[in-house]
Amino acid sequence: MELTYYGQSCFLLQAANRNILFDPFITPNELASHVDINAIEADYILVSHGHQDHTADLIALAKRTGALVICSFEIMLWLAKQGVENVHAMNLGGQYSFDFGKVKMVYAAHSNSLPDGTYGGTAAGFVLQCEGKTLYYAGDTALIQEMKLIGELARPDVCLLPIGDNFTMGVEDAVIAAGYLRCKHIIGMHYDTFPPIKIDKDRARGLFKKAGCELSLIDIGSSLTV
Ligand code: NI
Ligand code: MN
Repeated sequence: MELTYYGQSCFLLQAANRNILFDPFITPNELASHVDINAIEADYILVSHGHQDHTADLIALAKRTGALVICSFEIMLWLAKQGVENVHAMNLGGQYSFDFGKVKMVYAAHSNSLPDGTYGGTAAGFVLQCEGKTLYYAGDTALIQEMKLIGELARPDVCLLPIGDNFTMGVEDAVIAAGYLRCKHIIGMHYDTFPPIKIDKDRARGLFKKAGCELSLIDIGSSLTV
């Protein structure tokens, strides 16, 4: 599986011959100004919650690519009003098999509204099983006890965790999360985009290393094999 980072919490996962995009926020992100959004292809777009820094490019990308959007029921209703009809709604604890593998929607401790203020349901994360691997995409969340359940039941091989603090958990809590998740390979997200979430990357890598984990911080526009 190949994971490409487009900044903030936006990743493209290429697995099982499918392009699976997470939380598209590219064109407003100065750090991602070198990314050509028109070159991004998606078969699926997973949306953790409705905040602008996760959905700014959602409607345009969904319309251009025709991707199936996977999101909460409430975001599905909002997308229908924006003319996006190819949507698969899920809710917490539910799992569904797509042609690339299984997706389970899991709890995230965060708020959830759309850019126009519409209620977006509960904020979520996703546990994906594909190509024999398990990947946990946490979305925006605080450190939560539920991560222990994911560690126990799903045993993720790789976890994408927010580490920027202020709006989500920070590095120290993300290190604890990695322990709850029983996962040794963490990919950082939701950092550096805005002044309140700027981090010291070397310090972050060091804290994870001390805990026996590897923190990968992918350059925007670059890819990592997971
Ligand atoms: Ni958010
Ligand atoms: Mn966010």
